[in-house]
Amino acid sequence: MSVFPWLRMRRLRQSEGIRRLVRHTYLQLDDLIYPIFVSEGHNVRNPIPSMPGIYQLSLDRVLEEAEEVVALGIPAILLFGIPETKDEVGSQAYAEQGIVQKAVKEIKGKYPEIVVITDVCLCEYTSHGHCGLVEKGEIKNDETLELLALTALSHAQAGADIVAPSDMMDGRVYAIRQKLDEKGYSHIPIMAYSAKYASCFYGPFRDAAGSAPQFGDRRSYQMDPASSVEQALEEVRLDLAEGADMVIVKPALAYLDVIRRVRDTFAAPVVAYNVSGEYAMVKAAAQNGWLDEKKTVREMMLGMKRAGSDMIITYHAKDIAKWIRDGN
Ligand code: PBG
Ligand code: ZN
Repeated sequence: MSVFPWLRMRRLRQSEGIRRLVRHTYLQLDDLIYPIFVSEGHNVRNPIPSMPGIYQLSLDRVLEEAEEVVALGIPAILLFGIPETKDEVGSQAYAEQGIVQKAVKEIKGKYPEIVVITDVCLCEYTSHGHCGLVEKGEIKNDETLELLALTALSHAQAGADIVAPSDMMDGRVYAIRQKLDEKGYSHIPIMAYSAKYASCFYGPFRDAAGSAPQFGDRRSYQMDPASSVEQALEEVRLDLAEGADMVIVKPALAYLDVIRRVRDTFAAPVVAYNVSGEYAMVKAAAQNGWLDEKKTVREMMLGMKRAGSDMIITYHAKDIAKWIRDGN
């Protein structure tokens, strides 16, 4: 008869060897998607102050970035465009010679092995900065769908491997699926931003993409952080029914419960979007010497994996790849 406590959890924690054996969650290169901001111009490499290490890159510099991504073994990138001109209807979002369309063509031409995912939205391209058409101060849903579908189609025509609608209009996945199928792109998957919250954590991104709304906010289309998880499940259910192949939960850290519930409810791959504000917090603390960047990032990524995400979109992807490469 042994002495109390007879259940000793520490037995399996006593050495690195045993810890390795019982380990369950792994961070691997295969799960990572690296976001890239592409802008017009030549030899542009604009640092984004609130996102240290992240830049707005012109086409020529994007190719260098793509080369690095390939060399590091990161399987996928997510492209955001910063157009030269904006207008009321976001014409540059679906222009054949738009910045994203050109970038996709160049990147896929030179590095066909990279999975190129494109963000499909209007906010970077509209003068008012909203994700949909605006009429009398209102964001119009149904009128926006055709433009989103045209945007997705133009990305597919340029050679994108996956399209990712992030606008949160109702019915956009179906509109995009229909358009793609009709035009011969039935093989292109849709990675839908299904549970996307109206979050303050997008702040740095809006600096990077110049996509802050010029009036109001996005609360009439993005989800309320205080809404029920069931509402998130309903969003996912609808997007899957409309033809989404993968679903994104965004942001990640404050919504790990949503990731877990989506994982447990549906079979489709779940993507965690570790957003700009989450990145900025870690970078700022690390720069101040308040947190160990590598350990912090690792722990956060493990949390997203443990919550059930299959993939992680993260601005830390290149750093993580280097840490994995260097064996730490
Ligand atoms: C565009 C879009 C946004 C993000 C991804 N796609 C901004 C927004 O909805 O305001 C946020 C990404 C990030 O913060 O890293 N709709
Ligand atoms: Zn948008």
